[in-house]
Amino acid sequence: MPVITEIEDLKRIYRRRVPKMFYDYCESGSWSEQTFRENSSDFDKIYLKQRVAIDMAGRSTQTQMIGQDVAMPVALAPVGLTGMQHADGEIKAARAAAEFGVPFCLSTMSICSIEDVAENTDKPFWMQVYTLKDDDFMQRLFDRAKDAKCSAAVITVDLQLLGQRHKDLKNGLSAPPKLTPQSVANMMTKVQWGLGMLGTKRRFFGNIVGHAKDVTDASSLSTWTSQSFDQSLDWDRIRAFRKMWDGPLIIKGIMDVRDALEACNVGADAIIVSNHGGRQLDGALSSIRALEPIIDAVGDKIEVHIDSGIRSGQDVLKATAMGAKGCWIGRAYIYGLGAMGQAGVTKALEVMHKELDVSMALTGHTDINTVDRDILMVPKGFSGDWG
Ligand code: GLV
Repeated sequence: MPVITEIEDLKRIYRRRVPKMFYDYCESGSWSEQTFRENSSDFDKIYLKQRVAIDMAGRSTQTQMIGQDVAMPVALAPVGLTGMQHADGEIKAARAAAEFGVPFCLSTMSICSIEDVAENTDKPFWMQVYTLKDDDFMQRLFDRAKDAKCSAAVITVDLQLLGQRHKDLKNGLSAPPKLTPQSVANMMTKVQWGLGMLGTKRRFFGNIVGHAKDVTDASSLSTWTSQSFDQSLDWDRIRAFRKMWDGPLIIKGIMDVRDALEACNVGADAIIVSNHGGRQLDGALSSIRALEPIIDAVGDKIEVHIDSGIRSGQDVLKATAMGAKGCWIGRAYIYGLGAMGQAGVTKALEVMHKELDVSMALTGHTDINTVDRDILMVPKGFSGDWG
């Protein structure tokens, strides 16, 4: 086994071990993938200020997200089809997150159902919900999350329809995978993955199959989204969803100050500045560029989190220094899961934690809660002065 010191190591192993269809699903943005690429590369444009001869002993990255204690300001983001990256993937990732002390958020598009994850884990997790037309399904989803003792709900508001990812269409993405000569030939080379999948019953969209009506092909994400998602969504409807769930609430998918102000009126506990990992509006700004104006506008009213592009502890440090109270990672932990199952998710969290801890120390801080914008050098115009 190679020595794993960085997230890229996990990604290399992941790529070898998981069928191309699912690797591509994770590692894609929409259309030209400009936003997908810039989500990460824009972090490199921000510099950290090195400080010396400051007592760096006795450090802590512990803090809170929406009032809940976390070992570092990182949460595992909802990722569709996680159980196709590794057998029972959602349960494994949830266990790794719980052991590490960070939140795990289950996607509506998960393979393991809400009930299944609840039965097979000890700590409460968070539940992500999409905005569907079917009110009964929505109410049941929130009720199911409540029965499963989920300690927060995340409403994703940026997917009324699906951004096109070329590779998914070309690969015929589905869960379980459709057996074509190409997919079978590729899966035959992924022995460990295949054995894991043969050993589990969890191979379908667990929250949808048997729960959503009028879906003609419940194995196809694109069919399900086009048939069930609510293109007419508006803020009144989001407020109606708020009434269906009385626990802590996070709104995910905000990129514009006007939308951030609207989200504050919903009665949510946090918003996530997110462009869905560059998977929806291609050509949108990276989320790290979108973050600061949103914090300036609503940071005193609501907790502001960020996702999209975070692949290292240095990225977490930069976003935190800009004022984000939580950093959500998706691909960074999926690489670990696909590479090595639960141990790989733990490894991804350990790698990021070490990067965060050491980088924080080298900027002269011993407590993540004291880190502020003073440690950053941000290029002028980074967040835009757009015409
Ligand atoms: C689902 O949320 C996706 O981005 O594929």
